[in-house]
Amino acid sequence: MFSAQWRLCSLNSTAKFLTINSSKILGLPTSAKMSLKITNAKRIEGLDSNVWIEFTKLAADPSVVNLGQGLPDISPPIYVKEKLSKIAAIDSLNQYTRGFGHPSLVKALACLYEKFYQNQINPNKEILVTVGAYGSLFNAIQGLIDEGDEVIIIMPFYDCYEPMVRMAGATPVFIPLRSKKSLGGAWNSNEHTLRTRDVSWRMDSQRTFIILLKPHMPIKKRYINTLILIYKSFSIQKNIYCTSTEQHSWKIHKSRKAMRITTFPGMWERTITIGSAGKTFSVTGWKLGWSVGPHHLIKHLQTVQQNTIYTCATPLQEALAQALWIDIKRMDDPECYFNSLPKELEVKRDRMIHLLENLGLKPIVPDGGYFIIADVSLLDADLSGMKDSNEPYDYKFVKWMTKNKKLSAIPVSAFCNTETKLQFEKFVRFCFIKKDSTLDAAEEIIKAWTGQKS
Ligand SMILES: Cc1ncc(COP(=O)(O)O)c(C=O)c1O
Repeated sequence: MFSAQWRLCSLNSTAKFLTINSSKILGLPTSAKMSLKITNAKRIEGLDSNVWIEFTKLAADPSVVNLGQGLPDISPPIYVKEKLSKIAAIDSLNQYTRGFGHPSLVKALACLYEKFYQNQINPNKEILVTVGAYGSLFNAIQGLIDEGDEVIIIMPFYDCYEPMVRMAGATPVFIPLRSKKSLGGAWNSNEHTLRTRDVSWRMDSQRTFIILLKPHMPIKKRYINTLILIYKSFSIQKNIYCTSTEQHSWKIHKSRKAMRITTFPGMWERTITIGSAGKTFSVTGWKLGWSVGPHHLIKHLQTVQQNTIYTCATPLQEALAQALWIDIKRMDDPECYFNSLPKELEVKRDRMIHLLENLGLKPIVPDGGYFIIADVSLLDADLSGMKDSNEPYDYKFVKWMTKNKKLSAIPVSAFCNTETKLQFEKFVRFCFIKKDSTLDAAEEIIKAWTGQKS
């Protein structure tokens, strides 16, 4: 029986997979096993490197102060943790729940987003709970984008956009944010925006999808002009849809209000908004996210989800629902986490700016989020000893800094396509959602570094 199957498989030249449970049963010699040539699926060709995998491994050394991945080391709100521990003791909440989102969570999210959109949201039809913002992006891209479609990605971008689009067989079309003061020139100003010409020439293709990120990664500028320009393009070309990843929109500094593309006239019908519990409550390990949008779009995301992961962890969803209700009821109160976190972050941001300035850098001050970027070429580090000379400058710099200064960060060119890496390779991203002791440790490193320089 087994050997007959093996012969069938080996005769079929298109067969790629053979599941071998036991080579003893099959009676295969080791050489036969070794000669199996399993190639990767074409859709993942060239997508094997990943900035998080590479740099998280480097930063895992406990002697390194990690300002790399967007990973808060501050404590999440106490009520969020308490809710989860109580829920774990309830038997029924340890079992599967509704595939498209636990009932109490979709209700809480509908209530939250109704406050932003001033519109009623149907919790069962217009919300989908997912495995993090990544899950939402995956569902949206798989559910709404066809092979051959074009997907506009504004650059720099969150790194997973390009591979997810390519895995769907679509073509990413990159539109760069440009420095207002030196269009096409050095990327050295605080003022970045889209150029009308860059956007409008793309808008006449048949079917287009735009992935937006707000505030924009990794600079975390709000780009009101950019949003308005994109919005105008929607009225020129009716066949465009958009996802707007807004998990950092809670953290707009100086009480600035987040601007949401969904609230522009006619945009609800064409937009999927993505959020994440990890970013909302500083619990990135929960990997819970959500999509909000009209049912005619959400239903396609639901189809992807029901046939891939099916459902998300019930206890986490219930705990998130209960925590959200606490803050939904006190949204105008300074104690509400959506108000207290941005305040806390503003202090940390200012401290980080100060530290980087002490080092001789000129960081780009973000409007929101918890990352700050700076041109590190000003430090004139001696990278001649770095092994891979073909790597972009920022990759080499971060590896050098992690090894020699015990401080880690993320290279910004990881958020660019191949053609524009050069434009951004002098920039490095530092994460500042860190407890005081972590920032103290970073300060010590920087003090020692500047001491050595002077
Ligand atoms: C812009 C952006 N998108 C997606 C993610 C991933 O979010 P999640 O952990 O909820 O999947 C992150 C995390 O840093 C992010 O910054």
